[in-house]
Amino acid sequence: MGTYARIIGTGGYLPESQRTNEDISLLVDTSDAWILERTGIKSRRIAAADESAASMAEIAARQAIEVAGIAAEEIDAIIVATGTPDRVYPSTACLLQHRLGIQQCVGFDVQAACSGSIFALSIADQYIKTGMYRKVLVVGSEICSRVVDWTDRGTCILFGDGAGALLLEASAEPGVLSTHIHSDGQYEELLYLPNPQVASALTKDDVGFINMRGNEVFKVAVNTLGRIVDETLAANNLDKTAIDWLVPHQANIRIIEATARKLKMSMEQVVVTLQHQGNTSSASVLLALNEAVRDGRIQRGQILLLEAFGAGFTWGSALIKY
Ligand code: COA
Repeated sequence: MGTYARIIGTGGYLPESQRTNEDISLLVDTSDAWILERTGIKSRRIAAADESAASMAEIAARQAIEVAGIAAEEIDAIIVATGTPDRVYPSTACLLQHRLGIQQCVGFDVQAACSGSIFALSIADQYIKTGMYRKVLVVGSEICSRVVDWTDRGTCILFGDGAGALLLEASAEPGVLSTHIHSDGQYEELLYLPNPQVASALTKDDVGFINMRGNEVFKVAVNTLGRIVDETLAANNLDKTAIDWLVPHQANIRIIEATARKLKMSMEQVVVTLQHQGNTSSASVLLALNEAVRDGRIQRGQILLLEAFGAGFTWGSALIKY
């Protein structure tokens, strides 16, 4: 019998301060009605000046550790997905390790934009399946508000801040059933975040804001997520009816609805959090998972399909028996 990576704890953190659509309509030419209709978002959270990807990650991670009922020192590896790290180096995972007071474990970051948490989960799953590690902490933490151009109505309406975490443990019981991750670099120009200090000589990207051609991203996202759903079901020899919950990346309600339609799932079986938190990039799937676990929607033994899509493009899925 194989070894599975089983979720033993989840956690999440959203900053206190909310920025509503009305607030944004004071900054750019937009309206609550337009944002709600085109995206499904009503408000998003904005981190305080003294918060960061590492500080938010710590709160989410401590919650997951507490739920799991383990000591932080038992963790073998910390994998943090973030596109908005406090520092390029040390990694946010190293900062988090220190904040958690852990000395004996490995920590590193994964950068796959909004798909980051699925990539991190996939890596963690491989380590656990091979027996290299027994307990792995996976975190997605993003401070998008600092890299959004608050004068660009095409992007500033979408993003928010937050952190999500989960703890995986080696178990004879399933577990993560499969993960599927992909990337295709040809779409670089449709969605990117420059690193101005490094890139300016090459690309003239002299400000570090998210650049996005939203409509084109939208179309690729819908197609790609449809394909990954098929790939995931085929790999597990499962019919779509086997899935209890879709836990999607929270970018746009219309993208989520398209995936649910493909699965012939009612929106009742889809975890949607974007209305109150917007797109929190690599934190989004973990925050959605945490919310539905905590409020009792997701129950032990149910089958969950997690999926995400982001800059790169990158995309991925995970099928999990919770
Ligand atoms: N308020 C009002 N009007 C806006 C607007 C806003 N915030 N943003 C754009 N518009 C306008 C455009 O200027 C355009 O006007 P025009 O027809 O006069 O040129 C019109 O609305 C349609 O623009 P378009 O970009 O085609 O809208 P859309 O329906 O594609 O919605 C997004 C824009 C950004 C909401 C949508 O494309 C989206 O969500 N894309 C995916 C983004 C995403 O998921 N990114 C992250 C991936 S991880």
